[in-house]
Amino acid sequence: SYEEVAVIEGDGIGREVVPAAVEVLDAVGDFEFRTARAGDAVRAETGEALPQETYDTVADADATLFGAAGETAADVILPLRTAVGSFVNVRPARAYPGVDAVQPETDVVFLRENTEGVYAGHEDRLSEDLSTLTRVVTTSASERLAAFACEFVADRGGDAFQVVHKSNVMRETDGRFRDAVVSVADDHGLDTEEVLMDAFATRICLDPTQFDVVVCPNLAGDVLSDLAAGLVGGLGLLPSANIGPDNALFEPVHGTAPDIAGEGVANPSAAILSAAMLLEHLGYDGEAAAVRGAVESVLESGPRTPDLGGDAGTDAVTGAVIDRLD
Ligand code: NAI
Ligand code: MG
Repeated sequence: SYEEVAVIEGDGIGREVVPAAVEVLDAVGDFEFRTARAGDAVRAETGEALPQETYDTVADADATLFGAAGETAADVILPLRTAVGSFVNVRPARAYPGVDAVQPETDVVFLRENTEGVYAGHEDRLSEDLSTLTRVVTTSASERLAAFACEFVADRGGDAFQVVHKSNVMRETDGRFRDAVVSVADDHGLDTEEVLMDAFATRICLDPTQFDVVVCPNLAGDVLSDLAAGLVGGLGLLPSANIGPDNALFEPVHGTAPDIAGEGVANPSAAILSAAMLLEHLGYDGEAAAVRGAVESVLESGPRTPDLGGDAGTDAVTGAVIDRLD
């Protein structure tokens, strides 16, 4: 039986880049696609940004490909991450030959904790003058992330990873995170380098080659991986994966790009590379490598979309990627 892949285009350029990624998946394998709706447009029609039907489709599928949602993004993506039980957000940031990058040697994977921190915290308005935020960190979630990191690093043939935190200030929460991650790495026989998150921001800008796999708490991972996106030439290139114990959701890092939506010029690379991560997750390693290779080839020699200095449309780039699959 075919693998079931839920497909949610969402809003804006999600409607352009997700169909492109689906075309590429169709070219390399046999999948049963289950389309579902989420985002601003479906909310305008039904009052709900994430209909129950969509949640169920995602929860029941083997994997999901998601585009982006507009102003309803938080109402869509946070519950969808829950629907797949995702505890880690995998965000590779690498530069490609042929693409202008601030730091052309960048090749870093962020493993971002995906359930806790300030995103799971509780904000309070206590008075006219005072608001507070509670931050959530558990040993169990930190250990689960670390165990994933150890496997991830071992799969890449590595023996160490970096762990980013700010436990000199947030002694209790980031201290707990740090202790859990370092101790799991020890148990797996892996080395860890601890990097304070502010120092990390400077170091990756100056020399990204110091970093390979970087394990982060939720907010730090969000911010620092976007910083890395800036080093490699923009949002149109960055895929991501939300991984759970037996389900996963794949999405480009970018949003709905309202400034170019509907023009047919969105860069489909991030969405297609997200589809490659989906393929790898489902065990289609050869197909994933072929898709990555084809995207790299097109990035190097064109055609390119306007964000990368070219004048080709989404369809032309997608067609070129499919032509270069081998
Ligand atoms: P954005 O990522 O949509 O756009 C930022 C800039 O990058 C724009 O100039 C856009 O044209 C460009 N860009 C992004 N992806 C591109 C692509 N594939 N090809 C070419 N250019 C691309 O971020 P922004 O403008 O902050 O947010 C726009 C909307 O997207 C907001 O409503 C926001 O809530 C939503 N959003 C949704 C996300 C999600 O669903 N996961 C994530 C980020 C933003
Ligand atoms: Mg973000």
